[in-house]
Amino acid sequence: MAGAERRLDGAAARVLGRPARLGAPIRAAMETFEPQLITEVSKLAFSDPNVARLWYGESDLDTPDFVRAAAARALEQGHTRYTPTRGIPELRRAISAYLYRLHGREIGVERVTATSSGMNAIMLASQIVLEAGDNAVMVHPLWPNAPAAARIMGAEPRAVTLALENGRWRLDLERLFAATDARTRMIFVNSPNNPTGWVMSREEQITLLEFCRRRRIWIVADEVYQRLVYRAERAPSFLDIAEPEDPLFVVNSFSKAWAMTGWRLGWLVAPAALGDLLGELIQHNVSCAPAFVQPAGIAALERGEDFVAAMVAHCRAGRALVDARLTAMPRVRFSPPEGAFYAFFAVEGMQDSLAFAQRLVREARVGLAPGAAFGEGGEGFLRLCFAQAPEVLEGAMERLAKALA
Ligand SMILES: Cc1ncc(COP(=O)(O)O)c(C=O)c1O
Repeated sequence: MAGAERRLDGAAARVLGRPARLGAPIRAAMETFEPQLITEVSKLAFSDPNVARLWYGESDLDTPDFVRAAAARALEQGHTRYTPTRGIPELRRAISAYLYRLHGREIGVERVTATSSGMNAIMLASQIVLEAGDNAVMVHPLWPNAPAAARIMGAEPRAVTLALENGRWRLDLERLFAATDARTRMIFVNSPNNPTGWVMSREEQITLLEFCRRRRIWIVADEVYQRLVYRAERAPSFLDIAEPEDPLFVVNSFSKAWAMTGWRLGWLVAPAALGDLLGELIQHNVSCAPAFVQPAGIAALERGEDFVAAMVAHCRAGRALVDARLTAMPRVRFSPPEGAFYAFFAVEGMQDSLAFAQRLVREARVGLAPGAAFGEGGEGFLRLCFAQAPEVLEGAMERLAKALA
């Protein structure tokens, strides 16, 4: 489009929330940048206490007291200044020690970077490997922020969809490989998956890692739900099988297992050779994770196992309750997920999940995420976060049953 003033139509104009004329141009990738559809639902009733808020990926459990106390102590002790860009050494050591306990393998501190959330870790990996014209192949349905990170970089996110067979989500690796080409720089896999709960097997991880080594493509493994699984202690991880120099980023976060969504703390495991570059990039994004939040992360890792177990139990109870209720709804097709904390269910006859979810907020006071938000393979579904108190879930399921009758 010519001229210093570009017209912004549709989605981008809506995102910017102002009239469609700007005084100066913005990047082409931003002109077509679309709103996140979950927010399109949640903003209808974000502060209405009568709406069951099951649209976001967070539990109703509070961050454990000992974690909050660690942050309060750090504040009292004056931890209010910049820290090293990749995190204080104590936190990086605590992450490395935690990973050793979990995987029984040495993941040296030189490979560990503390980030300001899992999302920040995904963005950093994207900034390192993606440029305009590249593509990133991503297993879908998928939490929309991951493809958004590729789009922000000017790259093309390519969806390869999981298939639902006899109630189980399955990945066809041959289709995944066939979706790559000479401009593929990244394969993004989120397991346990948001929204489907699909968990990638060890064998699949080995095959994918071998393919990526051969083809020199980065794997970005988003393992933020690694601890939230229902048939094992944790999900298989690329860290169980990878060598230190493999083309692999593993993203993790304090948000889910330790109920710390608002703290904005996560970590990234990457080859040691990228450490200095990561430090530089963090400098230019956020400088460092907040100083008094980092000791809270140490407390979570060192003393949080009982809390993680309680979180899994909480999710397991929510999953059972929602399973019993959804299975009884004639228009709904649902199988309980293997991991993460979402029910991703199909509704017969639903053509437009966004409009449907918006109507559910207004008419049934149930806040769900529309399947369309999760890209290819998502339309026709709704996502419900069941990491909630039984009474909240009961009320919501009662109203949902009436709305779907
Ligand atoms: C699959 C997935 N990855 C990463 C994140 C990022 O979590 P945070 O940025 O809160 O650490 C989320 C949050 O919902 C998620 O669902």
